[in-house]
Amino acid sequence: MEKQRLDKLLASTGKWSRREAKDLIRQGRVLADGVPVRSGQDKADPESAVISVNGEPLGYRRYTWVMLNKPAGYLSATEDGRGPTVLDLLPPELQRQGLFPVGRLDKDTEGLLLLTNEGGLAHALLSPKHHVDKVYFTRVDGRLTEADRAAFAAGMTLDDGLRCLPAGLEILTAGEESRALVTLREGKFHQVKRMLGQLGKPVKYLERVKMGNLELDPGLERGSYRILTEEELEKLRTF
Ligand code: URA
Repeated sequence: MEKQRLDKLLASTGKWSRREAKDLIRQGRVLADGVPVRSGQDKADPESAVISVNGEPLGYRRYTWVMLNKPAGYLSATEDGRGPTVLDLLPPELQRQGLFPVGRLDKDTEGLLLLTNEGGLAHALLSPKHHVDKVYFTRVDGRLTEADRAAFAAGMTLDDGLRCLPAGLEILTAGEESRALVTLREGKFHQVKRMLGQLGKPVKYLERVKMGNLELDPGLERGSYRILTEEELEKLRTF
């Protein structure tokens, strides 16, 4: 792999900003092949050099995977003149890495959104061939019933003729307002809202809580992000 600037390399892990990386280098806490790095501009090949920070391996990865707890009000796009995008929630050093959202959540939908620059795995996760489960928590107007659950399980045909695969509807509470977990094996435009709307139970709130084997970290505040751990990436790869 091509050599890269050390300050950029450190920042690309998402653990430090570029400024923090420069400070660590200045303090002599960054070693490349056992030798202290002198300047952020020094270069190294992250795949062959042994780089450590404060005595710990850098943990460089070729691709970046970010878990974002998306708040309402942000578009799942990299650029959009109509308003802020999920990229605006990331720091500049991550914004510069060519990340894109793995699938879309509506502007008002919250919760688990992955961003990456690894096209291959991202497309595999989204491919209709693979049927990766996506789980949503929802609050709807009206009382969800066993008939609604059965309609989901049978596979609904929407008013415009769109046929949906069988889906899960786990009713958590049923009343004037009901709460449920919806499991989809596909991701058609506004799908959860359209399915529940057609059953006369319009969605008031929607949050994605799981994608494949990966759950939204309950410790991750709305609007916050973090880099996926090695174990989480492994879970994703074995969707
Ligand atoms: N289904 C929807 O209706 N909206 C989303 O954002 C995701 C799934």
